[in-house]
Amino acid sequence: MYAVQDLNLHVPEGAIYGFIGENGSGKSTTEKLICGLLVPSAGEIKLFGKPYTDAGVRSRMGVLIENPGCFPNSTVYQNLMMQALNLNIKDPDKEVRHLLELVSMVGAAGRKFKECSLGMKQRLGVAQSLLGNPRMLILDEPINGLDADGMRIVRETLLDLNREQGVTILISSHILGELSKIATHYGIIRGGKLIREMHESEMAQECKSFVFVKTVNNFRTASILAGKYHEMEERDDGIRIYDEEVSSNVSGYLFENGVAVDEISYQRIGLEEYYIQVMSQRKGVN
Ligand SMILES: Nc1ncnc2c1ncn2[C@@H]1O[C@H](COP(=O)(O)OP(=O)(O)OP(=O)(O)O)[C@@H](O)[C@H]1O
Ligand SMILES: [Mg+2]
Repeated sequence: MYAVQDLNLHVPEGAIYGFIGENGSGKSTTEKLICGLLVPSAGEIKLFGKPYTDAGVRSRMGVLIENPGCFPNSTVYQNLMMQALNLNIKDPDKEVRHLLELVSMVGAAGRKFKECSLGMKQRLGVAQSLLGNPRMLILDEPINGLDADGMRIVRETLLDLNREQGVTILISSHILGELSKIATHYGIIRGGKLIREMHESEMAQECKSFVFVKTVNNFRTASILAGKYHEMEERDDGIRIYDEEVSSNVSGYLFENGVAVDEISYQRIGLEEYYIQVMSQRKGVN
């Protein structure tokens, strides 16, 4: 029994690669393999074209997998400082203070790790992964447990690092709405196998678009729309018309039929819905 098999994962340089899959599908295992925390029984792992064991490449890799490895009785600052010293970072105090600022943890610098909240620990973990100016980041659920502000901070930090310094990021998360704000590529894993890998533009193409309409009586509106459209879906919040791209055609048709429209817009399904569709189509395949 293998945790992952025939994976074939490709993370292009400069990408933010959103790695998604259900619990136990093999995300953390894959990330541990890439980081060298687990040894593969077969296959090949290359980083920037070099074997993953290459010391030069490994030293430019920042990692946060599952939980930040910290000493519970040491403070946030001390924990970062110890890591900075281990990594031989020049002017470690300056680097640690800079990173604490980046993840908005200056106020918690003197707090013992064991007394940090889940979100504080996550922010510390992100700061830890950024020590030593990495070229590649492997982040396993770094936004898990963060409040809205914490998510924004991590999002902006990662986007900055990616856009301004070209840092390549592999990030797994179950918070798909948040992931879709930053990912340029996606990989979907199921049962230890990669079932889809695509650029964000390919995913956008596969995400169905529709005209969304909401009226006082959606049930009645749907029966009127059925006179012209055939690919429709009635949902709790309104009606989706998949076989129309121009919202004014729908509002015009409804106006002709005496229906007042409360809300109308052109939309596309999001990552979350796309992912659920892919997973349900694949039921029984793996
Ligand atoms: N230390 C371990 N010993 C044995 N099996 C393990 C171990 N860690 C993980 N597994 C198994 O490997 C498979 C993949 O687990 P993994 O932790 O990679 O999943 P995941 O995609 O990260 O899930 P989650 O979303 O819950 O974090 C699962 O079947 C899991 O039970
Ligand atoms: Mg995991």
